Amino acid sequence: MADKNPRRQARESGSEDVSEAQIAVHWQEEGYYSPPKSFIAQANLSDARKLKRFSLDKFPGYFTEFAELLDWYKKWNKILDASRPPFWRWFVGGKINACYNCVDRHLARHKNKTAIHFVPEPEDEAIQHLTYQELFVRVNEFAALLRDSCGLKAGDRVTLHMPMVAELPITMLACARLGVIHSQVFSGFSGKACADRATDSESRVMITMDAYYRGGKLLDHKEKADVAVAEAAKDGHKVDKVLIWQRYPGKYSSPTPLAEGRDIIVNDLLKKYRGQRVEPVQMLAEAPLFLMYTSGTTGKPKGCQHSIGGYLAYVTWTSKYIQDIHPEDVYWCMADIGWITGHSYIVYGPLALAASSVVFEGVPTHPDAGRPWRIAEQLDVNIFHTSPTAIRALRRDGPDEPAKYHYRFKHMTTVGEPIEPPVWKWYHKVVGKGEAVIVDTWWQTENGGFLCSTVPAIHKMKPGSAGPGIPGIHPVIYDDEGKELPAGSGKAGNICIRNPWPGGFQTIWKDPTRFVRQYYSRYCKNPKSKNWRDWPYMAGDGAVQAKDGYYRILGRIDDVINVAGHRLGTKEIESAALLVGEVVEAAVVPVADQIKGKVPDLYVALKPGLNASKTIADKVMASVVSEIGAIARPRQVIIVPDMPKTRSGKIMRRVLAAISNRQDPGDVSTLANPEVVDKIREIAK
Ligand code: WTA
Repeated sequence: MADKNPRRQARESGSEDVSEAQIAVHWQEEGYYSPPKSFIAQANLSDARKLKRFSLDKFPGYFTEFAELLDWYKKWNKILDASRPPFWRWFVGGKINACYNCVDRHLARHKNKTAIHFVPEPEDEAIQHLTYQELFVRVNEFAALLRDSCGLKAGDRVTLHMPMVAELPITMLACARLGVIHSQVFSGFSGKACADRATDSESRVMITMDAYYRGGKLLDHKEKADVAVAEAAKDGHKVDKVLIWQRYPGKYSSPTPLAEGRDIIVNDLLKKYRGQRVEPVQMLAEAPLFLMYTSGTTGKPKGCQHSIGGYLAYVTWTSKYIQDIHPEDVYWCMADIGWITGHSYIVYGPLALAASSVVFEGVPTHPDAGRPWRIAEQLDVNIFHTSPTAIRALRRDGPDEPAKYHYRFKHMTTVGEPIEPPVWKWYHKVVGKGEAVIVDTWWQTENGGFLCSTVPAIHKMKPGSAGPGIPGIHPVIYDDEGKELPAGSGKAGNICIRNPWPGGFQTIWKDPTRFVRQYYSRYCKNPKSKNWRDWPYMAGDGAVQAKDGYYRILGRIDDVINVAGHRLGTKEIESAALLVGEVVEAAVVPVADQIKGKVPDLYVALKPGLNASKTIADKVMASVVSEIGAIARPRQVIIVPDMPKTRSGKIMRRVLAAISNRQDPGDVSTLANPEVVDKIREIAK
């Protein structure tokens, strides 16, 4: 199938920009793998007849089942109010608290159970096991501090810039307890990136940690808060307070001095709140729980706003039935809580189900590629969740390591990028020891939880395919003209979802216009329509659907590059390059990479009269790192005499992408400056 080359398609349709989907690898159709009987026997959802409940004619009633997994102060009076498309309102009138559902309600039966296993990166540092009772105490005390020392109340926003430590879920849950909207920024992002998000969300309070371990080094993290506050001030936004958790309680581990009157050491101030309890605030289901900023098609990251009731219902149901979490399981998702995967599938989903969730501070391949398997053995982890990039790196560095350790996974997840069938097979055979089911879950920051995946005890697995829509999700692939591409057509198109679902984001923070334009305008059948059927959600990914109904995701069709499972906006990287005085033009293209899936190459052109030099290239590199963070560092900065351009002056990114990927750029004779192509190829060698 999929014999049609999307690169050629793109060329034929005259598209000038290059997308990931266009340089997607075209894998062979693979055979099926069946879930083991032992897995089916214990699974939360194993009766295929039950899937009938989720047909589109039963929408939206079937989502009641999702909400019923939660405890409500007041039941909703309407499942879905769809009267103002595409601003869907779920469980209208219902009252709920997310923290109560993830903590308090488990105390009666599970208070002595571990809620969070915190695994520090240094192996000689003991693992901390936080019971639900301890989590309850620590969340309450910190909520009291936020309320009484910071004056925070429901609806306020707080920016978190925290590493992978137990204090991060504690902080999130304390916010949720008060109805405060948290906005966690990935700790690997720069101070400037943190500032942009704090400014956009108007956070007066920032919460960080002094230091954390990564790759064997105790990194100074507090210094980033100083940069963040200063950069926000330049944009006219004042951060009043910076709360600093100590990586080692009682000891300040950062060389960066504290700012008088602004910085507060949380661990000191907390003593004042010992033993305090805070009633969870009864929030409307549609009140926001958190913002998660993500890259889009412009230079500015957008704040995806997620609701309390709909989001929590969605991640709880999918954790129970797609992740197959039972309360007695030990569940380890090796993502970072700074991304949506960590929010939904380290913190909110597993804790709502009273699971024991592992929070790992460090790098999976440090000090060696046996580390994850030692952790799995020690904690007796039986559900494991990670990304293709991590799997590729673990396979490269330690192909035989898993066999050395006595752990048994019943269930494994892959998320965030397409997984190559050989990598999938290694994951299945070596990591899963041939006994674990695998779900390849496709979804996005905007979606709250999984969109496509097999139901692990019901559907067979197929390497390289995400599977059908999950129960209740009805995907469709449209071509550029808005025509539906049927299953088995062999053609790639844009994957959309026909129906709203409770986990979907409510809007882009302070930018509802962009929300409508970016996700709904392209395939909206009638902008005046009040019928949800006319408003399919466009994900921004290219996909093909096989005859069996399984979807294979090909990659982004927009200006987003998925690097090691992290979304980076090409426009954000280009803007960072353009801040360097010598640069006049910048273009970023995705390059296929063995480990990270895709990496960015950054092409720049200089002001007339300037010569290419390593100094300039280094300056460009440094600008990207300080504006966004080290994860956005391009593979290379290539200084070119001129960009390949159309006669109307548009940069032909597809030509640059072909050069970077050592592919044929095709016919370039229609360019305004075809002679430049060979010169660039020579430089990029
Ligand atoms: C990609 C991460 C292939 C996709 C949860 C999507 C995937 C983007 C898969 C969202 C998968 C995610 N197979 N591609 N199983 N899962 N993607 O917002 O391009 O960080 O649009 O959310 O990752 O990235 P985000």
